[in-house]
Amino acid sequence: MALDIFKNFKEHSIAEFFRKNKQMLGFSGKIRSLTTIVHEYVTNSLDACEEAQILPEIDVQILEEGEFYKVIVKDNGPGIPRKHLGKALGQMLAGTKFHRYIQQRGQQGIGAAGCTLFAQLTTGKPIFVISNYENQTIKCNISIDVRTNRPIISNEIIEENKDGSHGLYIEGIFGDVKYDKSSQSPYEYIKRTALSNPHLTISILEPSGQRTTFSRSTDRIPPKPQEVLPHPLGLTIADLFEMAHNQKEHSTLKAFLLNSFQRISAQKVEEIQKLTNGTVSGIRFVDLLKDPAQLTWEEAEALIKAFSNIKWIAPSSDCLRPIGAQRIQSSLANILSPDFIVVSERPSKIYKGGIPFLVEAALAWGGKAGRLLQNSEVTYDVIRYANSAPLLFDSYACAISQAVKEIDWKRYQIKDIEHSPLTIFVNFVSVHVPYISTGKQAISPEEEIYQEIKYALMDCARKLQSYISGVNREKEIQSRKNVILRYVSQVSHDLAELSDIAKAEEIEKKLKEHVESKYLTKLLAE
Ligand SMILES: Nc1ncnc2c1ncn2[C@@H]1O[C@H](COP(=O)(O)OP(=O)(O)OP(=O)(O)O)[C@@H](O)[C@H]1O
Ligand SMILES: [Mg+2]
Repeated sequence: MALDIFKNFKEHSIAEFFRKNKQMLGFSGKIRSLTTIVHEYVTNSLDACEEAQILPEIDVQILEEGEFYKVIVKDNGPGIPRKHLGKALGQMLAGTKFHRYIQQRGQQGIGAAGCTLFAQLTTGKPIFVISNYENQTIKCNISIDVRTNRPIISNEIIEENKDGSHGLYIEGIFGDVKYDKSSQSPYEYIKRTALSNPHLTISILEPSGQRTTFSRSTDRIPPKPQEVLPHPLGLTIADLFEMAHNQKEHSTLKAFLLNSFQRISAQKVEEIQKLTNGTVSGIRFVDLLKDPAQLTWEEAEALIKAFSNIKWIAPSSDCLRPIGAQRIQSSLANILSPDFIVVSERPSKIYKGGIPFLVEAALAWGGKAGRLLQNSEVTYDVIRYANSAPLLFDSYACAISQAVKEIDWKRYQIKDIEHSPLTIFVNFVSVHVPYISTGKQAISPEEEIYQEIKYALMDCARKLQSYISGVNREKEIQSRKNVILRYVSQVSHDLAELSDIAKAEEIEKKLKEHVESKYLTKLLAE
């Protein structure tokens, strides 16, 4: 009887898995699903432009078509060559980023194909693409064969790209989505993208016909992201085992170690050799001249133990590309016109032993900072980013939101944060963002990450505190001065009558000057 269970034993493809679990890709709820589509396409455009060192221009159009919505995203990036076009947009876990340690917005190889799958599941229609890549213009429809996770390309037309323009145009028709202008809408997403990418010009056409363009405030393209090799301290036994078995270039473990990781020099290889020569307790013998493909699990374990006994230089952080304090400052000033902005600049750190990251934090106070509630009151707002891509959902699980909640804001003169005109900006920058799910909307609260976000925010809060105390002091002195000035006129008349030495107007003028200078001195002194 029990054996009947196995009559239905079957294999499934990754695409089939996501067909059943599309919420894991961010497709849950009609509004969120639409924002997810825009997020996936816009992050891809920005990544492609950044790698190709092109000043990005992106146009997003959202059109209502009966019960469906058409989404068009057009960029001026490099486009995608014909050879990779199908897989890039019609196959899960395929792309140029997953296998590299490089700071980009995308990292899993499922975002764009996930959108193709979602279009297919909700309207039965493929996506339509035009790729202008070098001297070719490729136009085609793409869908996914869900059973095999392979792209299906149809109606393909290939033309000569005569005018030399470059870029990708994607058009998809989606069901089970809805447009609105809430704080989690595509509009907000694009506004926040503009805020963290001052070199970007991006426009959105809303279903109402309204078009908004956020123009770039600088022509400086951020430096090209740099790929880095993994650091020995960031590796697990399984990582090392897999890497050794999958590499083809090196015939000895020694050469593999020297060339596949950062900070492993000839001198470090000698140290590894000494620690794995079979005489050190708890670490077994490893022959560094053996073929990496023959590395056993136990030997990989011994190497990882040896790594943890060596003093390493921290991982290189040259690969990190923060937005920069100056640019954050001008973006926030541009969009929120606050009374006060503070941005923290802190050095890079590492998490999980070997992955470099840094946190950029800023606080904006007053002006249009904070979020307007329906009852016209203002509350604080947290704007979260990972590698400059806005995170609008799953805030409850995100290291940034948790750090914000954990800070005792009252200690920094922010007496009632719920009613404060305060925008809290945090950008997490790394070659690998530990998202809590494939939906890529929340950063996992790893201890090192969470602490660093907290410290960066506390740095900013201290400076905001002195600003707020200054403003409060000024207000207090002003009100004391006003109380005195209220009596000056009456006192001047009384004095004029009593003493007969001068006219009331003269006394009043002198008294006013006296009060002004006394309080000005006081203000400067405090
Ligand atoms: N607009 C674009 N211009 C150039 N290449 C693109 C563009 N969009 C996608 N690609 C290519 O297609 C690949 C697949 O994109 P996809 O969004 O599925 O994955 P990803 O961006 O690598 O990772 P993630 O799943 O985290 O978004 C990318 O790695 C990139 O090489
Ligand atoms: Mg992507």
